Amino acid sequence: MQVYVNGALLPKEQAVVSVFDHGLLYGDGVFEGIRVYGGKVFLLGEHIERLYESARAIRLVMPISPAEMTAAVEKTVAANGIRDGYVRLVVTRGSGSLGLDIRKTSDPQVIVIADTISLYPAELYEKGMQIITASTIRNHPAALSPRIKSLNYLNNILAKIEATDAGAPEAIMLNHKGDVAECTGDNLFLVKKGELLTPPVDSGVLDGVTRRAVMRLAEGAGVTVREVTLQRHDVYVADECFLTGTAAEVIPVVGVDGRMIGDGKPGPVTQDLRQRFQRLTRGELTL
Ligand SMILES: Cc1ncc(COP(=O)(O)O)c(C=O)c1O
Repeated sequence: MQVYVNGALLPKEQAVVSVFDHGLLYGDGVFEGIRVYGGKVFLLGEHIERLYESARAIRLVMPISPAEMTAAVEKTVAANGIRDGYVRLVVTRGSGSLGLDIRKTSDPQVIVIADTISLYPAELYEKGMQIITASTIRNHPAALSPRIKSLNYLNNILAKIEATDAGAPEAIMLNHKGDVAECTGDNLFLVKKGELLTPPVDSGVLDGVTRRAVMRLAEGAGVTVREVTLQRHDVYVADECFLTGTAAEVIPVVGVDGRMIGDGKPGPVTQDLRQRFQRLTRGELTL
C-alpha cells in the first residue's frame, strides 16, 4: 500500500504524522470517506466540496486547492490499483504547541489512504438490521455542528459503544431536542404511506453525500421526498426504514429498540432504492 502524505506516495510504514499535530492532540482537522467503484472515484466533487466547507467552518486554511486535492485522490487510487474500494482523505491542523491556539500551528497534513472496505456483513443487506437508540445525544449544533466532518468523532464513538454493547450494528442518535438526528455513521430514512422521510439538516445531522444521492434517486423514481422533523415514534410506526452512508451504501433496518419495522423485512421502496443506488455506482443511472 502506498499512502499519500503532502504530495509524496510513501509505503504504509513511512506514512506518519508528528505527535504534536493537533489532529492527534485535539481531533482538530477534517476528513472524508469516499468510495471507488469500477476504478472511478464516486461523487468525488461532492466530497471535495464538503471537505473544503468543513475546513472553512473550523478556520483550517487548506494547503492545496480543490483541484489539487482531487488530483491527489485520483493519483493515490491509481497508484494502489484500486478498482472497488474506499478512500480516506484527511487534513489535519498541523503541528503546534501544547495549547489550543491555531496561530501556533503550521503545516496541515494532507493524507490520502486508498484501501478496501466492507462495513456490514452481506447478510444484513438481505435481511435488514436490528438497531437501537443510543442515550448519547448528537452534538448540539451550536457546540460542534454535525455538518462539519471533523476528526473529532468521540460523540459518534460513544453512541457506537452503546450499540456494540447492545449487540447492534448501529444506533440512532437523537438531537438535543429529543428528535431523531442520524446514526453514528449513517443518515436515516423512513418510508411512510409511500413517502420518503428524512430529518432535515437542521435536526443536527451530517449532510450526507449518499443521503443527497438517494433523495434524488427517489425523486427520479416518482417518490415524494420530505425533510421533516422525526421522533422515535415515527420510526417505530414507519412502514420501512433504511440507512445511507458512503461505507454502508443503502442498508435496510427492520427493527428498532425491539419494535418490528413494517413486516420485519426490507420493504419495496428500500429495495428499489438500493437497486437504483447500485446502478448509480455502476454508471447505469445519473443524478
Ligand atoms: C455521522 C455521519 N452521518 C452520516 C454519514 C453518511 O454520510 P455520507 O453519505 O456522506 O458518507 C456519515 C458518514 O460519513 C457519518 O459519519
